[in-house]
Amino acid sequence: MTQNTSIGIIGSGAMGAGIAQVAAMAGHKVVLYDNNTTALDKAKKSLAATLQKLQDKGKIASADEVQQRFSFADKTGSFADCGLIIEAIIEKLEVKKAVFSDIEKVVSADCILASNTSSLSITSIAAACNKPERVMGLHFFNPAPVMALVEIIPAIQTAPGLIPGAKELMLQWGKTPVIAKDTPGFIVNRVARPFYGEAIRILEEGIADIPTIDWAMTEIGGFRMGPFTLMDYIGHDVNYVVTETVFQSFFYDPRYKPSFSQKRLLEAGWLGRKSGKGFYNYAEGTTMPDPTKDLVLGTRIFERILAMLINEAVDALYLGVASVNDLETAMTKGVNYPKGLLQWCNEWGVDKCLEKLDSLYHEYHEDRYRASTLLRKQAVGNKKFV
Ligand SMILES: NC(=O)c1ccc[n+]([C@@H]2O[C@H](COP(=O)([O-])OP(=O)(O)OC[C@H]3O[C@@H](n4cnc5c(N)ncnc54)[C@H](O)[C@@H]3O)[C@@H](O)[C@H]2O)c1
Repeated sequence: MTQNTSIGIIGSGAMGAGIAQVAAMAGHKVVLYDNNTTALDKAKKSLAATLQKLQDKGKIASADEVQQRFSFADKTGSFADCGLIIEAIIEKLEVKKAVFSDIEKVVSADCILASNTSSLSITSIAAACNKPERVMGLHFFNPAPVMALVEIIPAIQTAPGLIPGAKELMLQWGKTPVIAKDTPGFIVNRVARPFYGEAIRILEEGIADIPTIDWAMTEIGGFRMGPFTLMDYIGHDVNYVVTETVFQSFFYDPRYKPSFSQKRLLEAGWLGRKSGKGFYNYAEGTTMPDPTKDLVLGTRIFERILAMLINEAVDALYLGVASVNDLETAMTKGVNYPKGLLQWCNEWGVDKCLEKLDSLYHEYHEDRYRASTLLRKQAVGNKKFV
């Protein structure tokens, strides 16, 4: 794939429009398609406004020049000349499968088909196609023009020869690609689960309140946002659904179990910032509650969540989901963690991390706290991850 390759994008929502912008700014002709003309119109206007702002700030030479690379379509026929199609529609397997099957009828024989799904199996999407070997996952993060990470996910049917080209293209687009095995949540949405789940568990157990847990993770842990602030920001409709999908896809492994606290927020329509209320209340005039700045309690909270995060990263490494480098890159570039979790484990001490998990396991007798076999192996002689 070169700059001359035309890119087709299916779905002009938050992700589709963002990816379209990235591709056009990298010099490609882009066909942006949506089956909803209102959504397409909205994307057209917001892309024009964004490009104008970028020109005003001196980030691009000419908004018009980039704008001219776009065409907007409400019919898939316009994809005939594209070399790569990226799908970013609603997160429903049956709908995605139907779209992939239809698209295959209009694209050229060597056109590559990619899905931006956050949590569905690329292999099962590929299975809907006559040529499943041309299908892969290209998972961008929100907002796509800002976030550097792209997870490239080969399905089990994907022709291995396509992956280096995809990696090269993402580099040309100024992105940082990593390769992830086609397993639930890929890298980021799998490894990050305890950041939310363990924080909620600590809350439900009454160990600390919401602002205190957020304070522990930002002030002691150095994370940019505390888990509750972040969940409210992402929206519980998105965050809860990813947790539930990952849990189901892992055959109900208790490590990924969703919480009733978050499910109730979703049921109440308290989706977070966007609805004015979530774990916090964002109504005007409301004062945010203060944390209890107890260093001993804060450290206990931070170490418990960190141990769970490290365990996920180590287990993902053990099970071949990604390399050490890609795991570290994914967590620092995809969710802005202050450092890679394997490096963090090295610095903290593999033995200390294992001790923390084992003490949780002994306290609760729950499979949720089982340490990865690799962590246990590394702890013998305190070997570092490299
Ligand atoms: N929002 C995120 O933070 C995020 C991050 C990474 C990946 N994703 C994934 O990206 C995909 C899109 O997410 P989004 O947040 O942009 O959704 P969105 O709801 O903002 O946009 C989806 C768009 O797809 C269109 N659409 C729906 N069905 C269609 C069809 N059959 N044919 C053509 N267009 C159709 C809709 O009209 C809408 O404009 C999902 O798979 C999601 O899991 C989302």
